[in-house]
Amino acid sequence: MNLKRFLLVSFLAVSTSFSVLSQEASYPIIPKPAQLEKMPGQFNWYKNTVIRNGGGAGFAAATKELQQVTAGLKSSTKRPNFILIKKDQGITAAEGYQLLVEPSQITILTANPEGAFWAISTLKQLIGSSALKPGAASFVVPALKIADAPKFAWRGIHLDVSRHFFDMAYLKTFIDRMVLYKFNKFHIHLTDDQGWRIEIKKYPELTSKGAWRKLNAHDSVCLKLAKDNPDYALPEKHFKTIDGERMYGGFYTQDEMRDLIRYASSRGVEMIPEIDMPGHMMAATKLMPWLTASGISQQGKTFSEPLCPCKETTYEFAENVFSEIFALFPSKYVHLGADEVEKDSWAKSEECKEMMKRENLKSVEELQSHFVHRMERFFNSKGKKMIGWDEILEGGVSPTATMMYWRAWVPKAPKHAAEKGLNMIMMPGEYCYFDFQQDAGSLKKVYGFDPYNYGFTKAEEKLVLGVQAGIWTEYIPSEARLEYMIFPRMQALSEVAWSTGEKDWASFEKRMNAQYPLLDAMNINYRQPDLTGFSPKSVFVDQTTLKIINPLAGSILRYTTDGSHPTVNSKVYNGQLLINKPTQVKITAFRPNGKMGEVYTIDYDQQAYSKGLSLSKAEKGLKFSYYPKSYKSVVEIKEADKKSDAITAAIEIPLKEQAPTFGTQHEGYFYADEDGVYTFYLRADDGSNLYLNNKLLVDNDGLHSAIEKSAQVALGKGYHPFKLLFIEGGGGYTLALDYVGPNGHRKTVSATDFAHE
Ligand code: ACM
Repeated sequence: MNLKRFLLVSFLAVSTSFSVLSQEASYPIIPKPAQLEKMPGQFNWYKNTVIRNGGGAGFAAATKELQQVTAGLKSSTKRPNFILIKKDQGITAAEGYQLLVEPSQITILTANPEGAFWAISTLKQLIGSSALKPGAASFVVPALKIADAPKFAWRGIHLDVSRHFFDMAYLKTFIDRMVLYKFNKFHIHLTDDQGWRIEIKKYPELTSKGAWRKLNAHDSVCLKLAKDNPDYALPEKHFKTIDGERMYGGFYTQDEMRDLIRYASSRGVEMIPEIDMPGHMMAATKLMPWLTASGISQQGKTFSEPLCPCKETTYEFAENVFSEIFALFPSKYVHLGADEVEKDSWAKSEECKEMMKRENLKSVEELQSHFVHRMERFFNSKGKKMIGWDEILEGGVSPTATMMYWRAWVPKAPKHAAEKGLNMIMMPGEYCYFDFQQDAGSLKKVYGFDPYNYGFTKAEEKLVLGVQAGIWTEYIPSEARLEYMIFPRMQALSEVAWSTGEKDWASFEKRMNAQYPLLDAMNINYRQPDLTGFSPKSVFVDQTTLKIINPLAGSILRYTTDGSHPTVNSKVYNGQLLINKPTQVKITAFRPNGKMGEVYTIDYDQQAYSKGLSLSKAEKGLKFSYYPKSYKSVVEIKEADKKSDAITAAIEIPLKEQAPTFGTQHEGYFYADEDGVYTFYLRADDGSNLYLNNKLLVDNDGLHSAIEKSAQVALGKGYHPFKLLFIEGGGGYTLALDYVGPNGHRKTVSATDFAHE
């Protein structure tokens, strides 16, 4: 091996001498490294493999991490081989590393400790699940060369510990998970209406009282859901009796937080604290109601009443709190929040009216901006940079602030921020909110996120510091539920954040499928890939067979037909299930460690083929109508709202100019070219309903992101009345209809499928 040549070519443009991850299953590394070259042979990692720190004191944590991997092995009498960490100032890419695995030695080359940790994460993934089986004799690492560096400097995960509390022991595990996927910013949302989680020495009541609550409405929803899914139960360890009352919550002392910050930073992770204000402050205003404009701590129409920006005492409180936060967290970034502020109480306050007059502020939005600017000046005076949610754009913004973009329904906000020269971190809800429910399309959606797709110029793209996942925990009370929500979306986002070069969903999916055994070995409660091959509304004529496709090897599928939730004791699905009477099947997959996937409900209805019509005058295409109004449901569409019509070949929206919100209708006949059971797949953003033979077949109605729903119907040969209603609620739309005929393959509807009279 010519190490010098390797070092020379690395970090040039991806050289054609590198075969770039052609064998995903053999090298299932996520995020995908920039360059990987296979080599002959393997390195055997034994208990007596010597770990050498050739980098100095800064690399002690990385060295210890490798030693801990070694500690899990059985003792060995083999001649010792070596793993060497070497500091190499020649690696100039920020956080870059090179990993050279030879049969005799593993070499990690990096200029900084972060790079060493990212190399170790790659190494751990190469070993895979075997590293987690206690008492293995050795680990096998395939020989290779990797040269790698991140696309973005900001690869964040945000966690709300206010709505539900997560303890220090788990936060360390959470950081380990982040490091394994090369995330480097841990944004911790420490305060909100539902609980104050960080000790502030000046105001001890914020945690002695503000960290504890009686159960609230979110908790009640969780407890109800826990009846079917124990992951929604509130952990007993977070209950405590205070003054004879059973209270729920928890907090971190400053010493505990200091320890966590050290733990994170020695692994390349920076902790960014958020104290969200002026809104979302009820945990504090309950104790200090004088902080609000009305002097009362109360819920407003949509959000809780915020701090009052017109009282000097508010700034005194805010500055005291942030002074302690600044002293505790070494990060130069601190998050002020500033989202979702209900300003009605400000508009009514005499103090605010006076202040607006005095400061020449024309609206309550400008008042919010006044608060944010003043806080930013305070941040800056203490050497800190302020981050705020994208509402900081409203009412004027300072170009030195950093914007965290979350409101996907304000698609112009990033461009607007860029024109003002703001740095930004991209966390739009539709891609990055991992508290949003998942369906079969969620993972691909996250993987497809392009944080530059906001109309930026090349120069403006440089303002994008990176991407971040957001995890709001109103309905995430437990560690198991948290992991269910973030894995494997976290892996998909890691590739958006880290990997350079072309995205390749098929490659990612293969590498992800190869990584599930590693997640099993780590006991991570991930969301399993979807079972497919069926429709929730299924149909048979005489009899049929349920054949399920499970992309994940090693699972056992279990089902019920009596309406009950499947359990580990339910019947095993053995590859097919005969259906010859109307039946409800509930089926789920269990991993070898007993963890359970989604429960799928399949309703089988027995139907005769509905009679196909013959049309006297069948013209090609469908009658299309356009209704430029705002609707929440397709059933609100009225003929009186119709503006124009046209004939379309299939499901198209032939409009040159579209209103921001509108409805459409496609009407005519679907042609079934033989008797059989047809499955329709309707994907829509926002809502859409498909009616066949004048009956609702697929109900995908309502305002929502792109969701696919499917249903089956038994059709006789011939024409069948067809109607598709659709609404766009703003922010871009998706409308796609596919089907599978008897013995056919899935295809998108086309001109030959439709006619009108
Ligand atoms: C947010 O989701 N309110 C930032």
